[in-house]
Formats: sequence, C-alpha cells, structure tokens
Amino acid sequence: MPAQSFVLFGGTGNYPLAEAVARELGTELGSCHVEQFPDGETTVSLQHPVRGLDVFVIQPTAPSVNDHLMELLIFGDACRRAAANRVVAVIPYFGYARSDKRECRREPITASLVADLLQCAGIVHLILLDVHTPQTEGFFRGPVDQLTAVPELSRVLEETLPAETVVVSPDAGRVTMATEYARRLAFPLVVLHKRRESGTETEVTRVVGEVRGRPCLIIDDMISTGGTIAESARALAEAGARPGLIAAATHGLLLDGACDRMSAAGIERVYVTDSVAAPNRRCGHAEVVTVAPLLAAAVRLQLDGHAA
Ligand code: R5P
Repeated sequence: MPAQSFVLFGGTGNYPLAEAVARELGTELGSCHVEQFPDGETTVSLQHPVRGLDVFVIQPTAPSVNDHLMELLIFGDACRRAAANRVVAVIPYFGYARSDKRECRREPITASLVADLLQCAGIVHLILLDVHTPQTEGFFRGPVDQLTAVPELSRVLEETLPAETVVVSPDAGRVTMATEYARRLAFPLVVLHKRRESGTETEVTRVVGEVRGRPCLIIDDMISTGGTIAESARALAEAGARPGLIAAATHGLLLDGACDRMSAAGIERVYVTDSVAAPNRRCGHAEVVTVAPLLAAAVRLQLDGHAA
C-alpha cells in the first residue's frame, strides 16, 4: 500500500469506528477538527494536507442525521477545495435511505437528494454498508461499493443459535437479506407480512412459514424504535414460536425505548454491528460485532486498485 497516497478522516458520527478502521489499515486518522457553533452551524478544519491524496472520510449519517450529513458534506467540500485527488465517503449507515421512492403524491425522494448533495460536495465514490435498498446506488452517478455485514453477523450467530432455529424476515423488503442469513446458517426461512401504520407503528398481518415450537432469529437491516422487531416478536409468539427470540440487524440505532420495547415483546438477545456509534451500547442485552475489518478491506481494495 503506498505510504503517503491517502489519508483517512473520521467524522464525529462514529469516531471509534474510524479509529478501528485506521488501526486495521496500520495507519492513523488524519488530524482534523470539527466544531459546532452556538447557532448550530458546523465547521471542519483539516490539519492534515490532502493535496493530491486519496481521501477517505468515514461518517455514518446516523442520529443526529442532519448534523452528521452536513458534516460529511463539509468534509467533502474542504477536501475538494484543498485539491484532494479524490474524495471517497465511507458511509457505514446511510441516513434517509428509507426515503427511496414515492409511496404517494407529493412525497420527496430524500435518498436521491442526499446522493446529489454528496456529489455537489465533491465526493466521487461511496462505500456503503447494508443500505436499506441496494437500488439507492442508482441515485449516485459515481462508483458505489456495497458491503454487507451478513457474513460477520452470521459467523457470530452460528456459534450461539440452537438447532431448529428459523430465520424470520420481518417484511417483504428484507427477504433477500433473510435468505442470505438462512443460506449461511442453514436454517429455513419464514416471512412476515408487515403493514406500517406510522413512523413508529407497524402491524404484522401474516406469518408465512412454520414457527410452532421453533426458536426464531428475526433479522433486519436496522433497528430504530424497535417497533418492527417487537411487533414481529409478538406475531411469532402468537403463532407458537419458542420463547427466547433473537434479533440481529446491521444498524443498531436503538433509539430511546427501543430496547425496552423489544424486551417487553420477548426478545432475549440482540446482535448489531458498530456501524453507528455508542448509543447501541445502551441496550444491556445487545452484542456488538465490529465491521472495522470489512470497511478496512474495502478501503484497501480502493488503494490497491488505484496503485495497479
Ligand atoms: C423498514 O423497512 C426497515 O427495514 C426497518 O424494519 C425499520 O426501519 C426499523 O425501524 P423500527 O425499529 O423503528 O421499526
């Protein structure tokens, strides 16, 4: 790997993850300072030169979503104006990805807007992890590397899940991901039909597959309020699933109340990655699997590819 050809910056979205990625790459994060003014404006000052270098900015746009997104855009602008060779955004969690289509009239497609903003800021390449819908990459005109944490989570899950487990997709949108879990873990697949009532409420209307007496692993791309997992757990319990349900998701946003909501619905353990920062540690029964080696490998591939 060429010693001086790149620099890695960590935004405030998940600085410990950025540090872990740097460690994996045998380097240190570039020095920079992010400050928020009293009026809410953000400023980024780069203490490390970027002229002619490949710059990687690691920043999940997780809560506080708008602040972290804006910070990433400002990083891009600062690097572009300082003559970086190219700016690659490593976005382990892509906020607004759920706004990927118009469900009804006069709705925005905010994921598309975010992609436009990233490009305007001078970001030319994205590295994404389990983005809500893979089609999101189509909103961005430059190259996009899509990573998945399913292998990382599966490796940990296979050590602990009882025989007879079934993998449960909480809705139709997660069937592809659930199928991959089921394939890796060699368990059957069950699909729930979910209806979203509001941003915080969902209703499971049907369980497709046999769960009676079986341990269940409910998977998802993200756990935000915990409503989807909790409602899925209730439906599975009603259908006779064995108590002690397990949930696994790449992005453990775990907003206030999420863990209690899931526990109350019978979730015994939750597995998430460190794609988003510390709040997920609030969940007493959450186990965190790191994605730092995965992200580092994607960065390394970029560097090797460019050197070739
Ligand atoms: C929705 O389609 C997503 O894949 C997740 O199921 C959902 O966003 C999780 O959010 P919450 O935890 O608030 O139900």
